[in-house]
Amino acid sequence: MIKIAPSILAADFAKLGDEIESIKSSDYLHFDVMDGVFVPNISFGIPVLESVRKTTGMTLDVHLMITSPARYTSRFAKAGADIVVFHIEAETPENTSAAIDELHKLGKKAGLSVKPGTPAKALEPYMHKLDIVLVMTVEPGFGGQEFNNAMLPKITELRRIIDNQKLNCELEVDGGINLETSKLCIEAGANTLVTGNDIFRAPDRTARIAALRHLRH
Ligand code: DX5
Ligand code: ZN
Repeated sequence: MIKIAPSILAADFAKLGDEIESIKSSDYLHFDVMDGVFVPNISFGIPVLESVRKTTGMTLDVHLMITSPARYTSRFAKAGADIVVFHIEAETPENTSAAIDELHKLGKKAGLSVKPGTPAKALEPYMHKLDIVLVMTVEPGFGGQEFNNAMLPKITELRRIIDNQKLNCELEVDGGINLETSKLCIEAGANTLVTGNDIFRAPDRTARIAALRHLRH
């Protein structure tokens, strides 16, 4: 099953409740946290997550693009995240392992993300205990960028590892996903698609969410 995760980074924050309501036929709500250090942009954080948690029962997929994320993973979990994904480039191996274990103790799903320059093999030591791996298909920091086709082999490689080792790990892609690039990602083995601008700029968001699943009839 293909899951769709609209990124509210592309939403109108002045009417966030209505924006969330408009994409409720999707599977996850993707929540991009940026600190202005790990990435050159600042978005939103814990107080906004707490408000969003109160307004929706949707699965909240929190993507931390912050330095030393292990300091904050539990706080985001307690603020209402269902899934907390952080960047492997931003932490030490010890802190990475400890943060994954802590998220599991809190009953949450844990994920690791890789920037375009980080190879799939960097994720391998952790994959047996991850619920999700997130392949960035643009440099993290901004919505509305163009999909990087060179990331497709990385998706294929991770799909092979997941299938060969029979891991219970979702494969998520994020950045420049639209009707065309979603198809390429699904063919390469992705099963969860983050999309910001493509969904929020669509005239009919529900129809676009359905189309992005590329279901055969
Ligand atoms: C980028 C974020 C993405 C972004 C995707 O750093 O992680 O989730 O919102 O936006 P689009 O789909 O517009 O590329
Ligand atoms: Zn994201």
